[in-house]
Amino acid sequence: FYNRTKTGDVITRSTSDIEQVRRYIGPAIMYSTRALVIVIVAVITMLIISPTLTLYALMPLSILGVAIFLVAHYVHKRSEALQRQYAQLTSRVQETLAGIRLVKAYAREKTETEAFEEESTLYKSRMLGLARVEAAWRPIFVVVVGLSQVMVVWVGGRLVTEGVITIGNIAEYIIYVGLMTWPIAAFGLVISMMQRASASSERIYEVLDEEPDISDSSRTDYSITQLHGHVKFENVSFRYAQGLPYALRNVSFELHPGGSLAVVGRTGAGKTTLIELIVRLVEPTEGRILIDGKDLRDLPLSVVRESVGYVAQDVFLFSDSIGNNIAFGTVGASDEEIRQAAFEAELLETVLEFSEGLNSGVGERGVSLSGGQAQRTTIARALIREPKILIMDDALSSVDANTETRILEHLRRRQGQHSMILVSHRISSIQDLDQILVLDEGSLVERGTHESLVEHDGLYAQMHRRQLLEARLEAIQ
Ligand SMILES: Nc1ncnc2c1ncn2[C@@H]1O[C@H](COP(=O)(O)OP(=O)(O)O)[C@@H](O)[C@H]1O
Ligand SMILES: [Mg+2]
Repeated sequence: FYNRTKTGDVITRSTSDIEQVRRYIGPAIMYSTRALVIVIVAVITMLIISPTLTLYALMPLSILGVAIFLVAHYVHKRSEALQRQYAQLTSRVQETLAGIRLVKAYAREKTETEAFEEESTLYKSRMLGLARVEAAWRPIFVVVVGLSQVMVVWVGGRLVTEGVITIGNIAEYIIYVGLMTWPIAAFGLVISMMQRASASSERIYEVLDEEPDISDSSRTDYSITQLHGHVKFENVSFRYAQGLPYALRNVSFELHPGGSLAVVGRTGAGKTTLIELIVRLVEPTEGRILIDGKDLRDLPLSVVRESVGYVAQDVFLFSDSIGNNIAFGTVGASDEEIRQAAFEAELLETVLEFSEGLNSGVGERGVSLSGGQAQRTTIARALIREPKILIMDDALSSVDANTETRILEHLRRRQGQHSMILVSHRISSIQDLDQILVLDEGSLVERGTHESLVEHDGLYAQMHRRQLLEARLEAIQ
């Protein structure tokens, strides 16, 4: 759902749409109860005096009823379009602000401003359209009420001459019609409000009714509360959607508890996909993933996510302090634990140079971290959880080689406590691991230890030679 739906749209649904419902439901109930009581009492009294005259007096009002129905339908449609437009507008603002550096760097301010203006003009015109319909109510309704009074005087006059009713009765009728004016107006108003609210509730329910694509099911085995870190892929294939090529083809491997595994390959080889399968962000199209010998789909999702320390390829930090960013996802982490994690991620020294140390804010409200510092913050975030399976998806890409070596040394000291999966494009960082998988276009083309792969003289050996050469060239410069 979150892959398909723009963030701005979800924001609109959870703020503006809820506001629409909140604003209208309460008054709507109040007005309609009041209106109903007044109308019922007035109509009964009128019927007692003269059924014929009542019929004539109410005829124009029933036309009004039909009109209300038609207009309400229209308002509903318009409201929905309006809220959709508002969502679009929110998405645009949200994306532009999130990418503001890019917008500036590419000198796109003017285009973005124009696009925003276009969206808001559209929103304005839709809003005005709706406002016009609502404004048209008043005159229509005054005319209809007027018509009602004319009918009363005209038909009533004839009834008086026939001696069926008295002149006093006519006066009474005019007062009743007048009394019913407000309730009927309110009724129209209520219907239009209800329609607005219902258009918005539909949008809210779309979010609420959305089933997570991946969740626990009847087969989930809740007796499992802990993982040991045994990971096994059995002929796993995966594609993101039908019609798309396979991102992973028939991949099998096994990682024992406490062991370490490296995944290397060119960009787009399927490394991130393989990782997301283990964290169960996506599920295999074919084949099985076994954790501790059990099908991943049978394990409680919460246990899997708690036992895995996952450092994603894209760094994400909240606008909060560095310490809180590290402690994110760990309930009740002590300062000491935070310091320890920061230390192991080679972040502590850097952070202590900031005036507020671990309490320094990140992003909008504080220091702006370099790519490598941000990456190390996310590594600390994974380490503090003491995961049974530690997964780093190219998480050392922006960290310099020396720092990387030190982080890997810290990790080695933890060896045995967790299984480790490292995705890297830098061979120097993974050559000591137990097992190396080489992916190419979704297929597992080579596997083995560093030595055996170099000996094999395939894709891995080629990557290795090129990186050695690059390192030497760098050293010369
Ligand atoms: N959300 C997605 N929807 C469709 N295709 C995707 C998606 N994510 C990745 N892919 C495709 O799957 C393939 C493998 O991508 P990925 O696992 O990210 O590779 P790597 O991490 O090795 O660079 C690529 O061809 C990529 O274009
Ligand atoms: Mg990747």
